[in-house]
Amino acid sequence: MSLRTDYCGELSSADVGRTVTVAGWVDTRRVHSEHLAFIDVRDHTGVVQVVVDQKVDARSEYVLAVTGTVRARPDGMVNDALASGEIEIADTTVEILNEAEPPPFPMHDRTDVDENIRLRHRYVDLRRDKMQRNLRARAKVNSAIRGAMEKQGFVEIETPMLIASTPEGARDFVVPSRIHPGDFYALPQSPQLFKQLSMVGGMDKYYQIARCLRDEDLRADRQFEFMQLDAEASFVDQEDVFAFISEAVADATEAVSGERPAEIPRMTWQEAQERYGSDKPDVRFGMELNDITDLFGETESKVFQTPVVKGICMPGGADELGRNAIDDLTDKAKRWGAKGLAWFRVRDEGLEGALTKFMSEAEIAGVQERLGASSGDMVFLIADSRRVANKVLGLLRLELGRPPVNEGGFNFLWITDFPLFEEVIDGNPIPAHHPFTMPHPDDVEMLNTAQGDEWLDIRSQAYDLVLNGWELGSGSIRIHRSDVQARIFEILGIGPEEQQAKFGFLLDAFKYGAPPHGGFAFGIDRLTALLVGEENIREVIAFPKTQSGSDPMTNAPSPIDPAQLDELGLRVLPRQD
Ligand code: AMO
Repeated sequence: MSLRTDYCGELSSADVGRTVTVAGWVDTRRVHSEHLAFIDVRDHTGVVQVVVDQKVDARSEYVLAVTGTVRARPDGMVNDALASGEIEIADTTVEILNEAEPPPFPMHDRTDVDENIRLRHRYVDLRRDKMQRNLRARAKVNSAIRGAMEKQGFVEIETPMLIASTPEGARDFVVPSRIHPGDFYALPQSPQLFKQLSMVGGMDKYYQIARCLRDEDLRADRQFEFMQLDAEASFVDQEDVFAFISEAVADATEAVSGERPAEIPRMTWQEAQERYGSDKPDVRFGMELNDITDLFGETESKVFQTPVVKGICMPGGADELGRNAIDDLTDKAKRWGAKGLAWFRVRDEGLEGALTKFMSEAEIAGVQERLGASSGDMVFLIADSRRVANKVLGLLRLELGRPPVNEGGFNFLWITDFPLFEEVIDGNPIPAHHPFTMPHPDDVEMLNTAQGDEWLDIRSQAYDLVLNGWELGSGSIRIHRSDVQARIFEILGIGPEEQQAKFGFLLDAFKYGAPPHGGFAFGIDRLTALLVGEENIREVIAFPKTQSGSDPMTNAPSPIDPAQLDELGLRVLPRQD
């Protein structure tokens, strides 16, 4: 038997005259006299006002069951802000189901509460309106994704948590083995290799709402453990992957926002770098990067005698940015790798800015025209290599123009044709995604000839999905032949012995009839955060870790018993700090 007949927030004038029982927490109370009090009782649907005409000591967050009759509120007492604001429950009997200590922080959403205190008492924090909304939105995202994958014929397969390492570019969390002292399992950074092996196993279309673990520095969009929609399919090309992932993302977006996104536009990685200086462009605002190298073909000034000169224009920036702000931006530009930051303000009476004396009249006029800069605007220029100019202006653009996370709608974007390698360190290329990505068919030959920075010109069949400047997910068509996979490992400096030790099972599997396959994974925490307009994914995770990776509620991580260490054959060295 339920302890209640109705939910607080669902009662309305249609219920006037009914005898009801609601149950929940004391949200607010106004005591008029010893024998008359108004209590707002709250459950997850909202609050309802209860008139109490007996002596009841019900304090904030006490748990109550209240039985009474629904009646219309007297004229002038109607509260338009509440769904149940036209009615109240009167002639009540109140049962206190549990008492409560005063809450550790105010329960109403407007208050900024220290994160540590919120997380130490997360069970109280979760009662707050915002957390209720966010977690319920998250459940809708999960349910919509599941529905979308099922209707497209994907099979849910669970992959193991105790595995050998899967390289995704982060550190592993490891688990010591008791039965094999001195040996360790790794927790999966993603189910990447298992999903590929399930393709070799003829499963055809795999999906999983998968927990992934990565020991990396935490940020607003990163936790140690997070959830992915992880998918893989056989005999597909990139277009097929875009289609099934678009469907899942569109269903999830519609489930939370009520709006179905239009077909997701595409941009190549190269174009994204040139126009936005980023592989995850935030296309909600302009301030695009302009290549103005040609304007400086004849320049007298050393500053602009560089491979590339690029610029951005900040509309209205001339008055917005004072000297201190510009100094600050210059410091940042240097930290990001630039030698300096050239800038000028455009005024009716002329230009203001130190570097303008290094520019000819024609150059200045050209820059202004190309960047569309007019009076009141601010112009920034970077003269450097193409990579540095793009990177620094891309970051500067975000710093100067990025709207708050909950503005501008949902701008999904596919970024295609990622390079296979993102950097060359000591002559060795570093993969841009993971090492299982198929090179672009037109660039395969270059795998045998590339040297130095030429590695960076090899394209891959990898793609990302971006939403409002956040990387939402990534995927690729995979290598399915053991000779190609072995060649990529070799290029990455993984020799035959190491290949056999770490990935022998994969290379073997590819010899037993591996079908061509490809897939994708996107972050459910990130998608949900953006759909509900949160800057930090912690706000859509029930029990997240703090920025420093701990849980103030359970005190994880914490030391373990010496007996447990013995059993595992482990000894902890004294801390160095
Ligand atoms: P990738 O490493 O790009 O790809 O991860 C896919 C998506 O997972 C989310 N994500 C995270 N979310 C929160 N906290 C983190 N620490 C974190 N790390 C990643 C992001 C990211 O875009 N196996 C490949 C996919 C594939 O190739 O199919 C993979 O995991 O939203």
